[in-house]
Amino acid sequence: MIYPVPAVMVSCGSSPEEYNILTVSWTGTICTEPAMCYISVRPSRHSYETIRKNGEYVINLTTADLAFATDWCGVKSGKDFNKFREMKLTPVVATKVNAPLIKESPVNIECVVKEIKELGTHHMFISEVVAVNADKKYFDEKTGLFSLNDSQPLCYLHGKYYLTGEFIGKFGFSVQKKKKKTTS
Ligand SMILES: Cc1cc2nc3c(=O)[nH]c(=O)nc-3n(C[C@H](O)[C@H](O)[C@H](O)COP(=O)(O)O)c2cc1C
Repeated sequence: MIYPVPAVMVSCGSSPEEYNILTVSWTGTICTEPAMCYISVRPSRHSYETIRKNGEYVINLTTADLAFATDWCGVKSGKDFNKFREMKLTPVVATKVNAPLIKESPVNIECVVKEIKELGTHHMFISEVVAVNADKKYFDEKTGLFSLNDSQPLCYLHGKYYLTGEFIGKFGFSVQKKKKKTTS
């Protein structure tokens, strides 16, 4: 019941014949330094053995444009389909791992598995982030700031996909001092 969560496309495989994508919502950041994250995957998934054997994968963030492919890769199996081909997604060689990046994704997070926790229905792959690739078009040319919200990131909430909503405030706004009005 901890929602909303992201719905990411996890790419895996060490050669083009093995490349696959599965959609994952049980994912998140778990440490800042060293940068670590996790994905939890059911052992019955075709991707499970690929990730376990190779010890690496890529988390590809998703957008409104990628919503169809995100859902499709989460209901079809790599046992039966080449998901890159079917969804017209482009595998790109990563910088630090053998698993491919998905070119159409705005952010690709390359991960190396450090530990596998066999929790129950899902096994948690606790991983170190070894590289992050971000699409240049989401960087403001003047400020250099990265605005992922411009990519229209997908949120997943109780079985439904949404976009992010209204801006409410920035980090720390609850304790920020109000600027005094100057009268002159
Ligand atoms: C939105 C969404 C989120 C999902 N989250 C997970 C998840 O966190 N862990 C998991 O094992 N499967 C998850 N799935 C299911 C897998 O993506 C699905 O079973 C997929 O077909 C597995 O592909 P594969 O057999 O090629 O590995 C999710 C599916 C969707 C649509």
